[in-house]
Amino acid sequence: MQPTDHLAASRYARMRWNTPLSEEHASLLLRRLDVRPGSRVLDLGCGWGELLLRAVVAGGVSGPVATRGVGVDTDDAALARGRRLAEGRALNRHVAFVMGEAAAWHEPADRVLCIGSAHAFGGTGAALDALTSVVRPGGRVLFGEGYWERPPTAEAEQIFGAEVPDLPGLIEDARQRGWRVLHVSTADQREWDDFESTWLAGRQEWLLTYPEDPRAAEVRAELDDRLRQYVGTYRGVLGLAYLVLGR
Ligand SMILES: C[S@@+](CC[C@H](N)C(=O)[O-])C[C@H]1O[C@@H](n2cnc3c(N)ncnc32)[C@H](O)[C@@H]1O
Repeated sequence: MQPTDHLAASRYARMRWNTPLSEEHASLLLRRLDVRPGSRVLDLGCGWGELLLRAVVAGGVSGPVATRGVGVDTDDAALARGRRLAEGRALNRHVAFVMGEAAAWHEPADRVLCIGSAHAFGGTGAALDALTSVVRPGGRVLFGEGYWERPPTAEAEQIFGAEVPDLPGLIEDARQRGWRVLHVSTADQREWDDFESTWLAGRQEWLLTYPEDPRAAEVRAELDDRLRQYVGTYRGVLGLAYLVLGR
């Protein structure tokens, strides 16, 4: 058996999901996604699939028409965490975690989640187009995507690219690509602060526990840079919008 790499294990350890999202907001999004019994749920760029598991449970897993889910991601460790979560909740017969490119998945589903993963398709517009072919007619997509909450500085644009839309631009883009926008909400400051803090927290704790590890200096520098960038450059500037889209 391989010895545990505590650094790797700590990476996302304090995150519930890998997006700025409170429990209450997640519940609202799942209600708006309206997962029906017996439906198929697909999560492209699922990470460890916490929302996917909840979406499947929301659809119902007992009875004659159980809801089923598939999560697709390229991160082995995240997929393994997803499988452990599914097993712990007795959902492993209902949810599969598949290693693969999101853009290469073609089997359609009734409900599709794509949160913070549009880059896997080449960007916002490409993702909005690609999602049309994996959602069944009458289906819905929960699309989580970044937007500029305030005009970006040059540094913010350098980090996130020049393609990030503002919120009206994001919604208009979705509409022009044939989607009906059934729900819009955005992550608030507390959700962002919690996201950024928990993104750092696993490795902050590792640093405090293993300060003499040869990798500590590099990890400390990475975490310090990220926190500096967040509070100095994109806090309150980059937003995250959650759209429920139908067609
Ligand atoms: C910001 S995280 C969001 C994860 C998840 N949707 C959530 O909300 O917790 C983006 C995810 O996209 C995955 N990803 C990146 N490129 C990908 C690709 N080409 N195909 C599939 N997944 C990809 C990453 O591994 C990561 O898990």
